[in-house]
Amino acid sequence: MLKIALTGADGLVGSRIIELLNNDFHFIPLPQVKMDITNIEQVKNVMDGIDFDLFLHLAAYTNVPGAEINKELCFKINRDGTRNIFDTVVNKGKKFIYISTDFVFDGTNPPYFEDSAPNPIAVYASSKYEGEKIVNPLTGKKAMTVRIAYPYRASFEIKKDFFRTFKSYLEQKKPLKMITDSLMTPTFIDDIAYGLKHLFNNFSPEIYHLVGTQSLSPYDAVIKIADTFGLDKSLIGKTTYQEYIKDKAALPKLANIRSKKNNFYEMKTFQQGLEEIKKQL
Ligand SMILES: NC(=O)c1ccc[n+]([C@@H]2O[C@H](COP(=O)([O-])OP(=O)(O)OC[C@H]3O[C@@H](n4cnc5c(N)ncnc54)[C@H](OP(=O)(O)O)[C@@H]3O)[C@@H](O)[C@H]2O)c1
Repeated sequence: MLKIALTGADGLVGSRIIELLNNDFHFIPLPQVKMDITNIEQVKNVMDGIDFDLFLHLAAYTNVPGAEINKELCFKINRDGTRNIFDTVVNKGKKFIYISTDFVFDGTNPPYFEDSAPNPIAVYASSKYEGEKIVNPLTGKKAMTVRIAYPYRASFEIKKDFFRTFKSYLEQKKPLKMITDSLMTPTFIDDIAYGLKHLFNNFSPEIYHLVGTQSLSPYDAVIKIADTFGLDKSLIGKTTYQEYIKDKAALPKLANIRSKKNNFYEMKTFQQGLEEIKKQL
């Protein structure tokens, strides 16, 4: 059985990957308490003590607004931490997968494919792109980058995603103002897990996008949440991208992210993902 060591195993995405694929792979989770990725000595010591075939690097500073204030910490974790892990894994001659984000694109000229040019427009996005540059397959090293976008799942107490945040607002009867003139590409985390299952077994040092098959505006996305779960649509008002991002971390406006390479796992549309979640709940 393939042995996969991973950071970020307790996070929103990592914990679901383990839940779904635990019978297919031998996972070796490396939580921050055991291995702080910003501490190179600790990284080397921990890595020397484990045996693995492939390293999945999910850990990141993921608070997008927080990154604007804590820029140094964000770069320390997402750039320097990634370098610490990557160098150690490469020195051991093992395979490496870096999880990145659609936010590396500026959102001005969609759609964005695996070979589109990144141009991050805020701190978190820049730090993730710095990580991408470190593991770039063009370096000739055994590294893959997998970009994901707006991951969501049925439940996870520790962190709310886009879907559960807005579902819970509607349940609390909170009036909302959602953007009508931007695009996002929500991705069902179960699909990310099954797509990764293929990539673990068919490793190739390239960039892949594992993203939902539908891009839509945040307004349309929340309307779908309301429709699917029988919540009150009259709470959902409209706003524009310009109005929304005033005084906020910049977000790519037209984050229509697609894949030219994913011919191995059929990713769900947002509607299909919501229907699946309804069955799971
Ligand atoms: N969530 C999104 O909307 C989204 C979108 C696109 C891409 N991504 C990418 O997907 C990956 C997973 O995201 P997520 O939302 O699942 O993350 P998350 O729930 O915020 O979890 C982040 C994980 O990183 C770990 N971590 C943070 N600092 C660390 C450090 N110094 N040393 C070791 N571990 C550290 C945390 O460990 P502890 O719990 O032990 O502190 C936690 O498990 C990230 O690379 C992120 O950039 C996420």
